[in-house]
Amino acid sequence: MRASSPALICTLVVVLARGGVGGARGEAEISRKTYDPCCHYPCQNRGVCVRFGPDRYECDCTRTGYYGENCTIPEFWSWVRQQLKPSPDVVHYILTHFKWLWDIVNQTFLRDVFMRLVFTVRSNLIPSPPTYNSKYGYLSWESYYNTTYYTRILPPVPEDCPTPMGVKGKATLPDPELLVEKFFLRKKFRPDPQGSNLMFAFFAQHFTHQFFKTHNRKGLEFTKALGHGVDAGHIYGDNLVRQLNLRLHKDGKLKYQMIDGEMYPPTVMQAPVEMSYPKHVPAEQRLAIGQEVFGLLPGLSMYATLWLREHNRICDILKAEHPTWDDEQLFQTARLIIIGETIQIVIEEYVQHLSGYLLKLKFDPSLLFSSQFQYGNRISVEFTQLYHWHPLMPDSFHIDGSDVPYSHFLFNTSILTHYGVEKLVESFSKQPAGQVCGGHNIHHVVANVAVGTIKESRYLRMQPFNEYRKRFNLKPYTSFAEFTDDKVMAQELEELYGDIDALEFYPAMLLEKARPNAIFGQSMVEIGSPFSLKGLLGNPICSPEYWKPSTFGGQTGFDIVRSATLEKLVCLNTKWCPYVAFHVLYNISTLLLKTSKVEA
Ligand code: HEM
Ligand SMILES: *[C@@H]1O[C@H](CO)[C@@H](O)[C@H](O)[C@H]1NC(C)=O
Ligand SMILES: *[C@@H]1O[C@H](CO)[C@@H](O)[C@H](O)[C@H]1NC(C)=O
Ligand SMILES: *[C@@H]1O[C@H](CO)[C@@H](O)[C@H](O)[C@H]1NC(C)=O
Ligand SMILES: *[C@@H]1O[C@H](CO)[C@@H](O)[C@H](O)[C@H]1NC(C)=O
Ligand SMILES: *[C@@H]1O[C@H](CO)[C@@H](O)[C@H](O)[C@H]1NC(C)=O
Repeated sequence: MRASSPALICTLVVVLARGGVGGARGEAEISRKTYDPCCHYPCQNRGVCVRFGPDRYECDCTRTGYYGENCTIPEFWSWVRQQLKPSPDVVHYILTHFKWLWDIVNQTFLRDVFMRLVFTVRSNLIPSPPTYNSKYGYLSWESYYNTTYYTRILPPVPEDCPTPMGVKGKATLPDPELLVEKFFLRKKFRPDPQGSNLMFAFFAQHFTHQFFKTHNRKGLEFTKALGHGVDAGHIYGDNLVRQLNLRLHKDGKLKYQMIDGEMYPPTVMQAPVEMSYPKHVPAEQRLAIGQEVFGLLPGLSMYATLWLREHNRICDILKAEHPTWDDEQLFQTARLIIIGETIQIVIEEYVQHLSGYLLKLKFDPSLLFSSQFQYGNRISVEFTQLYHWHPLMPDSFHIDGSDVPYSHFLFNTSILTHYGVEKLVESFSKQPAGQVCGGHNIHHVVANVAVGTIKESRYLRMQPFNEYRKRFNLKPYTSFAEFTDDKVMAQELEELYGDIDALEFYPAMLLEKARPNAIFGQSMVEIGSPFSLKGLLGNPICSPEYWKPSTFGGQTGFDIVRSATLEKLVCLNTKWCPYVAFHVLYNISTLLLKTSKVEA
């Protein structure tokens, strides 16, 4: 019964979409009615489409480097650049091969040259100040000023288009449940070939949920995280009242509780803040954390515990050097140090791991002081959508010799204190996470989140995947067969969407074929990295006025920021130092196997 129903739905969808009478009537209606000509997305190369009269449009090509009706004709230097620019896949190949070359680069001034290039080339793809939001598909003061909206890179699909995706594709989009069941659901766990582990997966979730906080009750176009970036709101709360409730108001510290001689977040009885737990969890078991949903997973409360300990440790160090400072100054300075440490770890370890680059990445804001770079950041709906990396999650959790199923893991507040931080870090560091792209790798426990994400993207009227490919200097795919190597998937997607130019953003980001031996496909890297790097380097602490020792309480604090590592975050805050990394421990023979595969 279960197996036959999706097939049945599929057939129905196909029949309806292709359907004789219904289809013909739909077409007739379209040709009679005038619609917004911007539904064609006529303006290329970042030109702006403006509607005039009922059925005319103009492309504004100003400063695109192109001209003509649709901004398609390159000016001389744009043409030269077009001819010389290597494709993203070539650049990626070079960055992940030729170890001898990078061993030289890493040790010379060339490292800075390449690093500056990485930062500027990526960040230049993100408009700053931000542009549109889900209500305003044109520039407006409201959209600039009202930061309760997520911004967006491409405006929404106009309201009165012939099809949901513009002019391409079918009159109705495929059923989200069907898409998830057919293409997202895991058959057999597929580990990430780059060796990402659960320590990485929970870091990703913990780190990003300081700036991805969709305000579900208000509307999916709104966010509760008004810092729009790395503000450590997941540690300190997203508003002042919450922060004050979480603070000890002594020596700059956060409130805590001691269990078996170890520091943990306080309960909500000690720090009265709202936390999302199922009703049956009593107040004395609810941990009070900056981010209200972090009771969901022991991996998240483990990171919350580590950062809490780190914050209080920093406060001790600051207080020793500045005995005259009051609680407020100690707290505020410790927060800036925590933000700096976070960015340092994210760039030099997290992004380093994800990228697979042999160029040794460097977090050095001064690299950008001589180039034009705008400090500031706004989180976009596109970034939120593409970061739904639920395929990372395993089938169950291997902790200290036990196999813990989801039913015992989710919202189980005793796992953290029962095992302690050390054993959790070690277990999570040794367990592989799933490969994100390529499809068929989402555990059924989180399948509904993927369904919700697809529905959200439709509510937000996100433009087709291929429009985003073009916006980020990638060639639009010309067929489903080019998009995925999975022949069955290509054919089924084609039947469901009708046209590659109608394929939706989020399904495409996750289903795209992964690069060889990689966690992601091309689009996830080329579209995701610009948002990521802009968010990290656009932080105020990276600006020339902030990036100096005094901001962090002196040289000691500045050095803590610049030398932060994941291992120190763990081992300076635990009794013993477990295996800690963003990748699983692979032995020499598997490493050799991996390299020989890559070379081949
Ligand atoms: C077992 C683990 C996980 C569970 C149970 C889970 C569950 C959820 C749920 C229920 C939502 C909200 C969906 C909605 O409101 O429509 C969500 C959102 C999200 N999840 Fe997960 N998730 C898990 C792991 C992860 C991981 C490892 C990542 C990696 C980055 C991640 C990234 C996200 C993102 C970016 C959002 C959107 C947040 C927002 O818009 O506010 N999740 N997840
Ligand atoms: C510009 O785009 C429109 C709509 O896609 C198309 O009909 C028109 O032919 C294009 N004009 C030029 C000069 O290519
Ligand atoms: C932002 O816009 C929303 C929707 O119009 C409105 O409810 C909210 O009050 C605005 N916020 C600010 C700060 O203006
Ligand atoms: C250069 O950096 C990469 C990435 O961190 C690393 O794999 C490689 O061994 C480094 N080489 C040297 C000589 O540091
Ligand atoms: C929570 O985890 C502990 C320790 O692994 C386990 O003994 C307990 O049964 C779990 N509780 C629930 C409700 O699953
Ligand atoms: C190393 O890895 C290979 C392949 O995964 C495995 O067969 C072998 O047993 C491992 N050796 C050790 C010493 O762990």
